[in-house]
Amino acid sequence: MNLKKMFKTAPLPFQGQKRRFAGGYALALSELNAKQEIKVIVDLFGGSGLLAHIAKSVVPEAKVVYNDYDNYSQRLHNIDKTNRLLADIRSILIDEPKDIKVDGNAKSKILDRVQLEDKQGYVDYITLSASLLFSAKYALTLEEFSKEHFYNRVKASAYDFDPDEYLDGLDVVRMDYKELYRQYKDVPGVVFVVDPPYLSTDTSTYNSDKYWKLRDYLDVLNVLVDTNYIFFTSNKSSLVELCEWLDDNKKFCNPFARSVLNTQNVTLNKDAKYTDMMLYRFLKE
Ligand SMILES: C[S@@+](CC[C@H](N)C(=O)[O-])C[C@H]1O[C@@H](n2cnc3c(N)ncnc32)[C@H](O)[C@@H]1O
Repeated sequence: MNLKKMFKTAPLPFQGQKRRFAGGYALALSELNAKQEIKVIVDLFGGSGLLAHIAKSVVPEAKVVYNDYDNYSQRLHNIDKTNRLLADIRSILIDEPKDIKVDGNAKSKILDRVQLEDKQGYVDYITLSASLLFSAKYALTLEEFSKEHFYNRVKASAYDFDPDEYLDGLDVVRMDYKELYRQYKDVPGVVFVVDPPYLSTDTSTYNSDKYWKLRDYLDVLNVLVDTNYIFFTSNKSSLVELCEWLDDNKKFCNPFARSVLNTQNVTLNKDAKYTDMMLYRFLKE
């Protein structure tokens, strides 16, 4: 591993980022690299780029491709604007208690300020939502944003990171994952990182107008056949169980056979819990 700073969490809010797996994922990659030289790592569903960033830190000599489907790097490069906007909002909220609903007067001052920024060209509505809306609620336009209740959830200090440091050494591309897979599937020493949108969950903050249905989700399995992969899912999708059943009953070739499983339990509240899963398999072992 090199001595550069390795981010263990995405620098700006991103729904579904794999920060809980940062350690296990780094370990899986370095184990594989010790056994067989990794030449290329392709993060097909790059999201915040966290997994591509970690990959470059763990295997610096490999080419690492980050599929920035959501244009997250644009959010990173606009961090100065976002910090200035949040600083102004912080001063509007100076007398408002933390995590409590913001009163109408302060809300309209915030909206005036956001509108001004919006007219000037760029507002990172996802970071703004994480700072002002109820947990896990997102608005992506000024209009949607103005309809929501605001809560004072603004971080006490500015976001402090260097976008170039985070993206250093990554080949940033933006395309459908199937096209990217086609480009790299026959390249020797390639490992695919596969973290698709979860089945039937809210994907409104992603740059995808479609809801991921079972068919879309099953299509992704095609990229796991005869490849080195690190795949992420959760027990909510029951995908791994489905493949095991098909394997037992229908002579289906289970792509997860002989893969290694690593899990993280996630508690949303006292009634809602699920398990995030990382499965990986390397061919020549
Ligand atoms: C679960 S997130 C990935 C999170 C990422 N691993 C991280 O740690 O931040 C799934 C990502 O797939 C993207 N996506 C949706 N449809 C896609 C497609 N057809 N091709 C590539 N990416 C797609 C979503 O926009 C989202 O960024």
